[in-house]
Amino acid sequence: MVLKIGKGVVVEAPASSANVGPGFDVFAIAVEFPKDTVKISLKEEGGVRVFVEGIDSEKIPNVVDGNTAGVVAKKLVKDYNLPDNIEIRIVKGVPVGMGLGSSAASAAAVAYGINELFSLNLDRNSLVRYAAEGEVASAGKPHADNVSASLLGGFTLIRSYDPIDVLRFDVPENLGMCIASPKISYGQKKTEQFRAVIPKLIELDKLVHNVGHASALVAAILTRDLKLFARSLNDAVVEPARSKLIPGYDSVKKAALRTGALGVTISGAGPSMIAFYDSNIVNGDNLGEEMCSAFSREGYEATYICTKPGNGCRIVKYLF
Ligand code: HSE
Repeated sequence: MVLKIGKGVVVEAPASSANVGPGFDVFAIAVEFPKDTVKISLKEEGGVRVFVEGIDSEKIPNVVDGNTAGVVAKKLVKDYNLPDNIEIRIVKGVPVGMGLGSSAASAAAVAYGINELFSLNLDRNSLVRYAAEGEVASAGKPHADNVSASLLGGFTLIRSYDPIDVLRFDVPENLGMCIASPKISYGQKKTEQFRAVIPKLIELDKLVHNVGHASALVAAILTRDLKLFARSLNDAVVEPARSKLIPGYDSVKKAALRTGALGVTISGAGPSMIAFYDSNIVNGDNLGEEMCSAFSREGYEATYICTKPGNGCRIVKYLF
């Protein structure tokens, strides 16, 4: 396929919070902000190239094979025999390591943008599969929860990984989300470290607990029942193991619940904590400040972002 040099697309891809309590590697919610903006265009020079600027860009590799977006682009080029003179310019809006699916947002934007640019007509599941390839570069495993939400928006659920089968549902507009993130350095490959502590085998009663809670959480979203959502936001398997790596986990949770949160859980792999609240009733900033104060009483400075459910990737500009 031959496309004109200079042709391209600019894609916006939202952040997301994965797992949503009992749905480890299965559930995620896209948020309205922050977002990444990614320009994908064709240049004279051959070879996929990636440039990163914006928030936390110094923490992101711009070597193609170490960058989630670069990995996705190379895989699509190979599988569809596309020209490789592709330049990817990422402007990061999604902070790194805040449990907001930063690497996934860039990966989703590239899968979405290349599909559009080369008119590949990939279906939703194929897009998710390609975008998830990028997660290997950051997490060591192609988990597809964050990329699903970034691509499709709303609440996403991975029914199956092999073959990939992703469902998407709207989220109640008044489901506010406040993500508080402590400044703790876990070094390189934080997600990989937070995955290493997860038990390899689980007891049957924990399976029963999680299947019950996960099913009820989906029902809560479909019926817009925030009280049921609150009761369902509980994970007996992954969260207890990961919480040990998060100083202040219990006190942050208590502080958020005291301030009116519906429920609190770890955002993605952590160490950020996410509090869900009814934005018609609770002031998100109060919640964020209380959560950060709780982290600081443990000796860790923290920052927060309050946001709401958002849409998936979209093209903001065509370059001709
Ligand atoms: N489901 C993944 C995990 C999300 O919990 O490791 C990482 O953002």
